[in-house]
Amino acid sequence: MKHILIMGGDGYLGWPTAMYFSNKGYKVTVADNYLRRNESKRLNCLPLYEVPDLEERSKIWYEKTGYEIKVIIGDLTSPDIIRNIFNGKVQYNWAIDKNFSGLPETVVHYAEQPSAPYSMIDYVHSNFTIQNNLLVTNNLMYSVRDLSPETHIIKLGSMGEYGTPNIDIEEGWIDIEHKGRKNRFLYPRQGGSIYHTTKIMDTDLLWFGVRMWNLKVTDLMQGPVYGIETEESKIDNRLRTLFNYDEIYGTVINRFITEAVTGYPLTVYGKGGQTRGFLNIKDTLQCIYKAESSPAKSGELRIFNQFMETLSVNEIADKVKFVGNKLGFNVIIKSIKNPRKESEEHYYNPVHQGLINLGVEPHYLTDDVLTEMFKVVEEYKGNVNKDIIMKNIRW
Ligand SMILES: NC(=O)c1ccc[n+]([C@@H]2O[C@H](COP(=O)([O-])OP(=O)(O)OC[C@H]3O[C@@H](n4cnc5c(N)ncnc54)[C@H](O)[C@@H]3O)[C@@H](O)[C@H]2O)c1
Repeated sequence: MKHILIMGGDGYLGWPTAMYFSNKGYKVTVADNYLRRNESKRLNCLPLYEVPDLEERSKIWYEKTGYEIKVIIGDLTSPDIIRNIFNGKVQYNWAIDKNFSGLPETVVHYAEQPSAPYSMIDYVHSNFTIQNNLLVTNNLMYSVRDLSPETHIIKLGSMGEYGTPNIDIEEGWIDIEHKGRKNRFLYPRQGGSIYHTTKIMDTDLLWFGVRMWNLKVTDLMQGPVYGIETEESKIDNRLRTLFNYDEIYGTVINRFITEAVTGYPLTVYGKGGQTRGFLNIKDTLQCIYKAESSPAKSGELRIFNQFMETLSVNEIADKVKFVGNKLGFNVIIKSIKNPRKESEEHYYNPVHQGLINLGVEPHYLTDDVLTEMFKVVEEYKGNVNKDIIMKNIRW
């Protein structure tokens, strides 16, 4: 079976991805430096419930399924940590077969500082985000170039790379005719935060690697993800992924549900017409799997827009209010001064056909999906610290 390396395997998306592939029989290695855990502690925005660390989770997974997820704890901005995974000198923090040194056929690169507000706290956090995200991507690119050029890199980009232009957003590329001549270019990008700007620079780095060294790269322009449970986490609550509801790490749907459960007014920024492409965490797993199963070709930067439906913040707030009220919560929607510099009413029409063509079957934000999330959040209602919902980070 294939070997897949998941960089950032302790994260919101990384751990469910690791279990998903392990369950399908892949050899799975995860690498992480606990940045997300440590920073959420330092910034006083702890997740809704505690999750065991990566080594403990891998042991639980092994006890429950008999499948092994090998664990490497280390900072991937350090070139040696990544290169050792590819040059036979890897040291696992947890593994049954500690001598395994097979090259990964696929790397899923999640290992970044993923929060726009975090990157906008001040110049220190901005510098950190730039340094962390670009160094990890560059280290990976060089490791693959030097040590395993056949490895397929699947990198998580963001729909936020495109911004909100007043024309349709294509899937990564656009054909431009200028003074009678034509060429194909990366679709114009304009990030709305330093974090999003690092995602643009990641794409540029990998596009360079593809042009120079024929790397195989899939760049997934993902929208904000919502959800908690996946099929694999249902085996044992300790396998649930982390869930944040604060302004720094909580994505909007996860945050609104927590607000609704605790009687905190849903925090709509400004007019609430901000529209984005959303997807269920279960669809992130499907998309990565489909991208893995039919890899990019040598010398190809393949870009897919990874979301299943577009929703405005007002539409999400209305859906959460409707379901919350039905479940007996008194949900109030409140427009607050927008802490971000962004359009609050705009045109938004991004293409998202590539992953559907590969066979992804979308989940949508239905009342049932929201109800399932409400139930999990309600279980941990007592842990919610309302003081951390808004952190007053301004652009
Ligand atoms: N969650 C979303 O809604 C969303 C949307 C679009 C794109 N993305 C992208 O998907 C990826 C994963 O997002 P997430 O929500 O799971 O974030 P996350 O913070 O939960 O996961 C990222 C993981 O990478 C680790 N990491 C970061 N820097 C590292 C380093 N230098 N060395 C080792 N490990 C490191 C962190 O500790 C964390 O566990 C990110 O690249 C993010 O930009 C996420």
